[in-house]
Amino acid sequence: MATARWIASSVSFCTLILLGYACAHAPAPQLPALPEASPAQAIRYREDVEPVLEGRCVVCHGCYDAPCQLLTSSYDGIERGGSAHPVYDSSRLLPARPTRLGVDAQSVEAWRELGFHSVLGEGGDGGRSSLLLNMLALGRAHTFAAEQKLPEDLPLDINRSLSCPTADAFDDFARAHPMSGMPYGMAPLRDDELALLAGWVMRGAPAPDEPPLPARASVRSARSSIPAGKAARCRGQSGPRAPPRRARRRRGTAAGEAAPSG
Ligand code: HEC
Repeated sequence: MATARWIASSVSFCTLILLGYACAHAPAPQLPALPEASPAQAIRYREDVEPVLEGRCVVCHGCYDAPCQLLTSSYDGIERGGSAHPVYDSSRLLPARPTRLGVDAQSVEAWRELGFHSVLGEGGDGGRSSLLLNMLALGRAHTFAAEQKLPEDLPLDINRSLSCPTADAFDDFARAHPMSGMPYGMAPLRDDELALLAGWVMRGAPAPDEPPLPARASVRSARSSIPAGKAARCRGQSGPRAPPRRARRRRGTAAGEAAPSG
């Protein structure tokens, strides 16, 4: 009896070891190659890349509490990358350090120290180390049937927890969440859009040409340069809220009525 129990527990122990080994050595998921831009084609951030990001990514990656804090709404946001720490977490007991782009850190190195990881990758390796391109390839590999409900195993509820993998953890993420490529739950990008994003990242993701704003002026100027529609969209969705304005009028002091004296 004791021998039988010993054999059973040895078999389950070995099975666990084998499973663990198989998982650790599972082949990398096969993803389709992204379409390539011709080498002669110039790819500029403002003219070519930004319109694709604006049209397909900013709807989710545009506000303070965007998934993985990844902001594709500006070059600085993409360069900063993603973070696995959510902005809002009601189970948090201690205050978290704010991570407002352009305010709470001023360089990529400083963001890395605050826990942000690169989505652009190293450059010069054909995009293999780019989380952004891998996420797009995963989206291209697993598309959704047109005009059908999304599959049950694609969570959409607002309180679900996100993985926010680093580039190194992408293979595990792709195996566990094959339907979670980008753009999340939506139709994949067109070939020409993918070619622009992939070409830009593979060429080292060059920054826009314009000179950077002076450090002290940047936040105020950046705020005033946000188009009104975008600002309203962000205010409606998330982000640190301004405290409600004090009512200007006191009771009984409607326009034209004299305020009580004393
Ligand atoms: C419908 C909303 C939505 C859209 C549109 C969208 N994303 Fe995402 N994105 C997400 C969600 C949700 C996650 C987190 C997935 C997870 O971790 O489970 C994410 C994660 C990512 C990540 C990984 C970040 C990290 O730190 O691990 C990258 C890179 C990314 N998105 C790029 C893009 C790009 C590029 C586009 C546009 C082509 C895009 N996304 C469009 C919702 C979206």
